[in-house]
Amino acid sequence: ELRAAVVESLRQTARELPAGTVPTLGFVPTMGALHSGHSCLIDAARAEADVVVASIFVNPLQFDDDADHRVYPRQLQADVELLQAHGVDLVFAPEVQEMYPGYPEGPLVRVDAGELGRRWEGASRPGHFDGVVTVVNKLFNIVTPQAPARIQAWFGEKDAEQLAVIRRMVADLNHPVEIRSLPIIREHSGLAQSSRNQRLSEQERQEALALSAALFQLRDRAAQGQPLEVDGVVAQLDMADGVDLDYLVVVDPTTLLEIEPGEEQAAGSEVRLTEDEVLQDRALALIAARVGPVRLIDNVELGSD
Ligand code: PAJ
Repeated sequence: ELRAAVVESLRQTARELPAGTVPTLGFVPTMGALHSGHSCLIDAARAEADVVVASIFVNPLQFDDDADHRVYPRQLQADVELLQAHGVDLVFAPEVQEMYPGYPEGPLVRVDAGELGRRWEGASRPGHFDGVVTVVNKLFNIVTPQAPARIQAWFGEKDAEQLAVIRRMVADLNHPVEIRSLPIIREHSGLAQSSRNQRLSEQERQEALALSAALFQLRDRAAQGQPLEVDGVVAQLDMADGVDLDYLVVVDPTTLLEIEPGEEQAAGSEVRLTEDEVLQDRALALIAARVGPVRLIDNVELGSD
């Protein structure tokens, strides 16, 4: 049983720590098909925690599209080897029936991500974030040991909307978990690492570069204090081969609400960030598009250099 193993590991490490020190548990939830985006999270957790737990579970509740769920890459053996090589202490890889007995009838009680879960990604994938917060809620409860420990859970900024929703869940539902995050890991080309990239052809991989290129354009304009001209970038993407754009928006990273133009720009339609938004890194450009058979998401923080 996972919790017993967690408690045992924590007890062992606690014995080696100075008396009275509370051990730290690092938790990294994943859906497997692991790549360097995941292993950076593991390494960060390993560097800060005494015991590191990773989970691999392709959560059916968060797939709005059955076909996407069926073809989601699964490679448990290779994943477990990668996790071991990165020093993970415990891997939790449950079956669907273990997480959701009676599935697809259950679970009857679920967590609702609220209006944060219905913006952008949530609007295009109804129920997606409800599925994410329901499974993350369960996973947090499963790994939380019945022994004193600090718990840190690690998430990637690649899924910026997910991170906002999970931070909000932890605040609203009082989880005793500290949420930590790491920047997006990209290939040299700029493409954000994703398990779904496995399903892109060579040509589609090239076409997908239009997403990060668009974001970098906005990042550079923001850094130079220029108007972002989001509409122009959208127009370029609409013409790009193989890219079916869903949204490109500039939002507040906490509320996910679209950021309004700065006052000096109020008359025009262009977003120019106010000094405050730039200084506090209070702006994120979010993009989602279909390229070939997959839906890709990416984002970049907009701020001054
Ligand atoms: P998954 O897509 O496997 O991602 C697991 C974690 O890795 C997430 O926190 C995600 O943001 C992070 N990640 C993925 N690609 C990354 C990249 N290129 N750079 C940095 N971090 C990256 O996200 C999920 O699984 C699920 O929704 C989950 C939270 C496990 C709930 O089912």
